Amino acid sequence: MGFGKERDPMLPPYSATGPVPPAPPPRWRRRRPARLTRALKFVGLACLGFIVYAQWRQISGSPSSDSAARRSPSLLSADKLQADLQTCAKLHKKPQDPIGLGRERNARYVEGHKPTLIKNATVWVGEPAKGTSPEDAWAGKGYAWINADVYIEYGLIKKVEKDISLKSLASETLVWDAKGRQLTTGIIDMHSHAGVDSLPELEGNDDTNEMSADITPYVRSIDGLQPQDHQIQVIKSGGVTTSLVLPGSGNNIGGEAYPIKHAVGKPDGREEISVADMLADPDRNWRYMKMACGENAKRVYGKVGEHGPVSRLGESWEFRRAFETAAKLNRAQDDWCARAESAGVESMDSYLPQDLKWESLGAALRGQVHINAHCYTVPDLEAFVDHTNEFNFSIRAFHHAHQTYLVPEILKRAWGPTPPASALFADNMWYKAEAYIGSEYAGKTLWESGLTPIYVSDNPVLNAQHVVFEAAKAFGYGLPYAVALASVTTAPAERLGMGERLGKIKPGYDADVVVWDSDPLSVGAAPVQVWIDGTAQFDDPVELEKPVKGPIDPKTTFDMPADELTEVADIVFTGITTSYLPNLETSEGSSSDNNLTVAISNGKITCVGACPAELAAATQRVHLKNGHLTKPFTAFGSTLGLNTIDAEDSTDNGHSTSQFSRAADGLRLGTKKLRYAHRYGVTRAISAPAFTGAGTHFGVSAGFRTWGYDTVLEEGAVFAEEVAVHYTLQEEAAKTGGGTVSGAVGALRGKLLKAVGDDKAAGESNNETTDAFAEEAYLRRVVRGEVPLAITVHSADGIASALKLKKQVEEASGKAELTMVIIGGAEAHLVAGELAEAKVGVVLAPLQSYRTSWDQRRALTGAPLTNGTAVDALVKAGVTVAIGLEEDWVVRDLGLLAGIVYRNGEGRLSEGETLELMLGLGDEKKNEDFLVFEGSPLEIGGKIRAVGGRGEGGFVCMSV
Ligand SMILES: *[C@@H]1O[C@H](CO)[C@@H](O)[C@H](O)[C@H]1NC(C)=O
Ligand SMILES: *[C@@H]1O[C@H](CO)[C@@H](O)[C@H](O)[C@H]1NC(C)=O
Ligand SMILES: *[C@@H]1O[C@H](CO)[C@@H](O)[C@H](O)[C@H]1NC(C)=O
Ligand SMILES: *[C@@H]1O[C@H](CO)[C@@H](O)[C@H](O)[C@H]1NC(C)=O
Repeated sequence: MGFGKERDPMLPPYSATGPVPPAPPPRWRRRRPARLTRALKFVGLACLGFIVYAQWRQISGSPSSDSAARRSPSLLSADKLQADLQTCAKLHKKPQDPIGLGRERNARYVEGHKPTLIKNATVWVGEPAKGTSPEDAWAGKGYAWINADVYIEYGLIKKVEKDISLKSLASETLVWDAKGRQLTTGIIDMHSHAGVDSLPELEGNDDTNEMSADITPYVRSIDGLQPQDHQIQVIKSGGVTTSLVLPGSGNNIGGEAYPIKHAVGKPDGREEISVADMLADPDRNWRYMKMACGENAKRVYGKVGEHGPVSRLGESWEFRRAFETAAKLNRAQDDWCARAESAGVESMDSYLPQDLKWESLGAALRGQVHINAHCYTVPDLEAFVDHTNEFNFSIRAFHHAHQTYLVPEILKRAWGPTPPASALFADNMWYKAEAYIGSEYAGKTLWESGLTPIYVSDNPVLNAQHVVFEAAKAFGYGLPYAVALASVTTAPAERLGMGERLGKIKPGYDADVVVWDSDPLSVGAAPVQVWIDGTAQFDDPVELEKPVKGPIDPKTTFDMPADELTEVADIVFTGITTSYLPNLETSEGSSSDNNLTVAISNGKITCVGACPAELAAATQRVHLKNGHLTKPFTAFGSTLGLNTIDAEDSTDNGHSTSQFSRAADGLRLGTKKLRYAHRYGVTRAISAPAFTGAGTHFGVSAGFRTWGYDTVLEEGAVFAEEVAVHYTLQEEAAKTGGGTVSGAVGALRGKLLKAVGDDKAAGESNNETTDAFAEEAYLRRVVRGEVPLAITVHSADGIASALKLKKQVEEASGKAELTMVIIGGAEAHLVAGELAEAKVGVVLAPLQSYRTSWDQRRALTGAPLTNGTAVDALVKAGVTVAIGLEEDWVVRDLGLLAGIVYRNGEGRLSEGETLELMLGLGDEKKNEDFLVFEGSPLEIGGKIRAVGGRGEGGFVCMSV
């Protein structure tokens, strides 16, 4: 992987980014190849830009010196001067947040749509009870789920009351029974590239960054937004009704952004397919702009000896120069307007100075534009805050604000009345140098400092369909329930300047409403219906069968455990309500099944049950409220152990399409990722060398312990030198180096058939190859059925090819059955029966594909759009399934992902089976590792209290 110099430095796209490996690159820096074309395009555009600029200089002169345009008053158009004078009024107008209550109808209301009454809902209004003090409200107190009906008319919420009588309503009112289920406002995602960075990614549809220059305040995301991008519907199926569509972060100033609603064309109740029709505020009261500091711009634009920025120093200069230019234009305009107003516009000897190139940035300095800046690090944040004070503009939110939690005082120094909010992911980090420092507790820390956390998707970096899951995790990481829910509703609404219209269920608000199948801050929550401006969005929504659990008590809080675990040898836990450990004999006298005691000595479990003797003798006891005992988790298919910072070459094992290698020969222990893996109960990892980058594999995977060992030489550090032999047939990767997909399949078949032949010949002559670690040697073991063959591939036909290959090889060999595993598997549900029949297992990576690449385009995105996802179809068909990691940061969330499988599995698997199947892969019998959780590992807020194991002389790591 890594950002080799051979790659065109033009690239990164949107946010998290950097140039990419040629093949199926990870989402945070996904981008297509064809860089050369793009580079040429860039040169072409630059030339064209220069010519146009030169011509323009000749005819119009520069905006600040209007001498060239100066003409005698009689030669100026009186109409144009009048129009200019009116423009003066616009320039000096300070926008207000548009009103909510007091409107007769929502400007987005479509004539003829009937009123709707949603009966018997459990409603989250979005604000605390009357009389709650501001301090309590900030602390998340005074909020409650209330039983009410919601009446919607003309695209507005009209009434939120108990038992609204139908008699009082218009006769054509549609009635929808919520049956007590939970109802919230539509979720708001304040950082999305939906529609401009289309999914599945196609080069022709990528309009994320205008890369003709670093400073492009003059471009607009709506000019590239594709209303028909299916992802807009997928996102809505997660309850997201409004997204701020930002240009990417390749540029220091990326251009204008727009909040849109996810209703498109006739099927969604709109009159036309049009971006203008999607604007959340058709009156465009506020404007929005994207800026970005840090790694991207210098890497994308800087060209040593030619132009900057090549460093953060240069970036600050680019910003300041741009603000200065816009400020000069504003000054010239203000002078002109003052003269025109005092002396009379007809006496003016020039027109109002205007320059389209600097118009939007000028408006930003006039306070008409809500600025959203992507800045990760302390120096980035501090430099940007400096700019706000030098040029007097305010900033609504820092995005990718990973390090803001470390420097609340810097944020409070920003110009303007309110410090910027921090737009964050809950726990996606480590993907590049500036994302290396981050904390899953950032949101809580910020909030404790009086700052506002907001959770965002940066779609397609995360699937915005599940942005509410980010808020749910933030709740688990210690934010109060109400603050976590606010972070994807009221907080972004307020930062968008739409706080009177969006984010609450109150009269006067836009009727964007979601009824959920379970608490929105619980794992696997999905809408059963979504309304936008009062129009139901799904004709035939799939509703999963789930036991009704009712709302989470908003008073529930989760604490912040110590970052480091303490090592102890002997300890006793009481209050274990659930044990998923198989074959554990409980001690005699265990009276109560839901209050077990677990005694641990020398890192080994010595007793489970009542354990009176152990309890009496214990030197250290920990009492749990809802303890869970389980086997630890295994991370499969990630770059754990082979990489520390995804995008940094020097921290990476690299990737090769020609060098077959063994992960065991490249493992590096003691990394931050591995420490967190262990901290979150992932005591084992199985990693393979990369083929073209993360998420692709080529070579032999190794199984190793994530923590407690300094090097691979230590006994037990590597528990399996060889787990599987890996090849990648993913469309994008398979073609690397000019090949074809068909060629990649053929080449692998050739190698396997040769291995069959070699094996037969060797069998007769007892001939073994000299290098037992060479590719041929491994392939011979594969065809003998001794080592599994793991194929990384997403498309259903790609999986079908792998299944055919298996059959062909088995027929040629005539004896052994080849053991095969599919990794990726986005479209595996289409061949579920065949996979089951061939006894081929699937490691889903990611668990829930959202069609990021073409070969995943038939992936199931889940209710309410599809009946379950791939995992459900595979489990139903009897396929062995496990959860893999497409990206390393997911290591914190494996338990919760398994929780989604369990909760949305309609009872197909028990909790224990889910954990065993989904996360126990690669387990061997002697594994005595275990985890003790406070709360369920499958639920939000479940917290590890002990990670135990390592056999003889072992230790238990415990959080305090
Ligand atoms: C509301 O829904 C709940 C749950 O289905 C049900 O028990 C209750 O009777 C309903 N109330 C009304 C007024 O329909
Ligand atoms: C979803 O699929 C299951 C069978 O796997 C079926 O029982 C159920 O009725 C389906 N649900 C819908 C809403 O189609
Ligand atoms: C559970 O068992 C422990 C040890 O026997 C005891 O101290 C504790 O009070 C019990 N808890 C409950 C809720 O019964
Ligand atoms: C052993 O097998 C290899 C191919 O696997 C072959 O090249 C070599 O000639 C064989 N040697 C003997 C002695 O058969």
